[in-house]
Amino acid sequence: MKSTIQDKTKLVNSVFSEVYDKYDLMNDVMSLGIHRIWKDKFIDWMNPSRNSSLIDVASGTGDIAKLFSLRNKNFSTITCVEPNDGMFKKGKSNLIKFKNIKWIKSKAEILPIADNMYDFYSISYGIRNVSDINKTLKEAYRVLKPGGRFMCLEFSKIDNELLNFLYRNYSKAIPTLGKYIVGSSKPYEYLISSIDAFYNQEQLLEIISKNGFTNVEYRNLSNGISAIHSGWKI
Ligand SMILES: C[S@@+](CC[C@H](N)C(=O)[O-])C[C@H]1O[C@@H](n2cnc3c(N)ncnc32)[C@H](O)[C@@H]1O
Repeated sequence: MKSTIQDKTKLVNSVFSEVYDKYDLMNDVMSLGIHRIWKDKFIDWMNPSRNSSLIDVASGTGDIAKLFSLRNKNFSTITCVEPNDGMFKKGKSNLIKFKNIKWIKSKAEILPIADNMYDFYSISYGIRNVSDINKTLKEAYRVLKPGGRFMCLEFSKIDNELLNFLYRNYSKAIPTLGKYIVGSSKPYEYLISSIDAFYNQEQLLEIISKNGFTNVEYRNLSNGISAIHSGWKI
């Protein structure tokens, strides 16, 4: 069990060390820009009030922190958490102008943060990559204030047969795109297999609930290509 967790940590770290420089470009190309709409919808559903605080975990290049901050004219306080050196550097430099955003290099499973600190916890396309989802959710619960909200954006399962067929065929081309844009197909082979192996909407809802969150619900985006899950610490 321990070695499986270490293997996944190593694999995921090597994937993001290879792609960090072209991560944003590749996201735009792969999704035809649609990930930006999904991320906007994520912040729409969060609907943060002006002075709210956010911990964004698996921040990558900082898209969610940036959108959250802009939504409230930068009145919020935000902590980005990211373990990979390359992604951390890229994210920090992308958001250098945001004085309300600080960065911590850490994994989701053990956050160097006191209890009951944040109004919102977000994890966007990160939960599929963690080595221990239960530890991650327990930490999310711990650092949220009572009344705080957990929000997760992740690839999920498509509820339409024709779209599923088209998407599966399109997915086969993604490693080749990766080879041209990033210089390696391997990270994108990992991407496709990790999406396949990940939980469906109902399974993820159950895991979030089992880790203490209440009123857990989800919304599909583009027929379930991605989904947003939301839960509360009451
Ligand atoms: C697909 S990127 C998502 C980046 C960004 N949140 C977004 O939506 O574009 C996944 C990120 O999760 C990070 N990650 C991987 N394992 C992690 C872990 N155990 N804890 C926290 N972050 C992790 C990776 O380094 C990477 O930056």
